[in-house]
Amino acid sequence: MSNYSLQAINLNKTFGRRLIFKDLTFKVEDYGIAGISGANGSGKSTLVKILAGVDSPTSGKVIHIGNGKEILPDKLHNHIGFVSPYLVLYEEFSAWENLNHFARIRDVKFDNEKITYLLNQFLLFDRRNDFVKTFSSGMKQRLKFIFALMHSPKLIILDEPTSNLDTEGKDSIYKIIEEESKSGIVIIASNEKSDLALCSVEIKLEEYKNHK
Ligand SMILES: Nc1ncnc2c1ncn2[C@@H]1O[C@H](COP(=O)(O)OP(=O)(O)OP(=O)(O)O)[C@@H](O)[C@H]1O
Ligand SMILES: [Mg+2]
Repeated sequence: MSNYSLQAINLNKTFGRRLIFKDLTFKVEDYGIAGISGANGSGKSTLVKILAGVDSPTSGKVIHIGNGKEILPDKLHNHIGFVSPYLVLYEEFSAWENLNHFARIRDVKFDNEKITYLLNQFLLFDRRNDFVKTFSSGMKQRLKFIFALMHSPKLIILDEPTSNLDTEGKDSIYKIIEEESKSGIVIIASNEKSDLALCSVEIKLEEYKNHK
């Protein structure tokens, strides 16, 4: 059991005078899959960035608790795996070098064995020494998953996890999401029906646009 909880309390976000969402409150605990849905521009990416601590709400609070203790914002990256279209890979580095570099930035151990396992799992082991600039967009997406999982986080936040993936790629991601959700929390921001079908709860952003 993971002993992790993520709580959003009365989150409001505006950009200038544009309201993105308001009075958003929810809690996810221990394990399972939660979805965040909404049309293009509804605020899915904004919300997951706030949950991951890389953006701030206009008001309200996000609380992460691991093993009974609140995790401070500067340590969050050690506990979270985040796959996002906004994550930029270094094109002039190999896949292996990218992973090494991000482990260093995060200040987590570069676990050779785990990374080799993940490279195999995501069918990139044979390409590990190739420059990322030679990767297809689906291969880049799979490399982002390796980053997100390499430090065995208890909370995995996925923004459009299956974009750029073919059917086979999607299915392999779904298998991994289901596997991870047995021991940790997975949050999926998406509009894909097949992504949202995995979720046991769904936060629909359209419901947080007006006063209730
Ligand atoms: N830094 C910013 N400054 C101003 N407005 C922003 C900023 N970031 C996002 N927005 C606005 O916030 C709204 C929500 O954007 P967001 O990217 O969160 O939507 P989304 O649901 O992820 O959309 P998509 O499905 O297209 O990925 C949009 O109107 C967008 O223009
Ligand atoms: Mg988005």
